[in-house]
Amino acid sequence: LDESTPTQTLESRTLESVAKFINDGKSKRIVVMTGAGISTSAGIPDFRSPDTGLYANLARLDLPYAEAVFDISYFRNNPLPFYALAQELYPGKYRPTITHSFIRLLYQKGMLLKLFTQNIDCLEREAGVPGDMIVEAHGSFARQSCIECHTAYPDDLMHKAIHEKEVPHCLQKGCGGLVKPEIVFFGEQLPEEFFRNRTLPAMADLCIIMGTSLSVHPFAILPQYCEEGVPRLLINQEQVGTLGSRSDDVLLLGDCDSGVRKLAEACGWLEELEQLWEET
Ligand code: APR
Repeated sequence: LDESTPTQTLESRTLESVAKFINDGKSKRIVVMTGAGISTSAGIPDFRSPDTGLYANLARLDLPYAEAVFDISYFRNNPLPFYALAQELYPGKYRPTITHSFIRLLYQKGMLLKLFTQNIDCLEREAGVPGDMIVEAHGSFARQSCIECHTAYPDDLMHKAIHEKEVPHCLQKGCGGLVKPEIVFFGEQLPEEFFRNRTLPAMADLCIIMGTSLSVHPFAILPQYCEEGVPRLLINQEQVGTLGSRSDDVLLLGDCDSGVRKLAEACGWLEELEQLWEET
């Protein structure tokens, strides 16, 4: 990328210019968009990284294709692979990363407009980001219900089923349908809350995208909703989506935990961030 290209809002396409933009008080409405890459250092594999990603390691479940494990029509015929995996993915045994704490720090500084996450690990909540600041675009394990009659299924029975790797069935008389956590499978609609908030990126004065391949729609379209002239900062191991195509896009390629530390340091927040993460 030609670093010298002058841009209307940032002095240059560098992390320092984003930090200056933030410290000049020009960013009060930051929209953050995240994916599995921000939880890999917590021990949760992402999906598409070549060797370590989940999809590269599902051979033991003999699926017709990797994404079938999250496909609603495959699940209806064979829920076992999902439930074999659910125990590993179930929230509660992972600690948020410093990247999750960075998002909480933005909230604490009154700068976070909204966090859109594709993750189902609930680590954003555990890091202290309030629920009303988070759009869980692909749902979460927080609730579960019958895929046929949509009756809610009790949490305690769900925890037991997940723990014992059993497939839970609907308790409604005459139903007996399969129960599934309310995470969005391929072939299912995203939650209403996603569509209600989808235009929020147009209100942002800074957009930070972290740890996602931007390969699944409609989430992947969100960065395009940021207005021209609003800086978009990508903190990711690789360039993704259309990031880099605008004159004030800033690409910070590499590990997100070190990327947020660099940004925090440039903003003079590193000590505060480390302390916050320490307490998590
Ligand atoms: N630091 C920075 N980037 C990272 C790190 C890290 N520590 N680890 C992984 N990444 C990057 C990868 O290079 C990749 O670009 O994060 C991205 C992860 O992409 P995916 O594995 O595709 O995860 P995600 O984008 O969240 O997947 C989207 O696909 O399977 C569906 O519904 C599922 O929500 C998921 C959706």
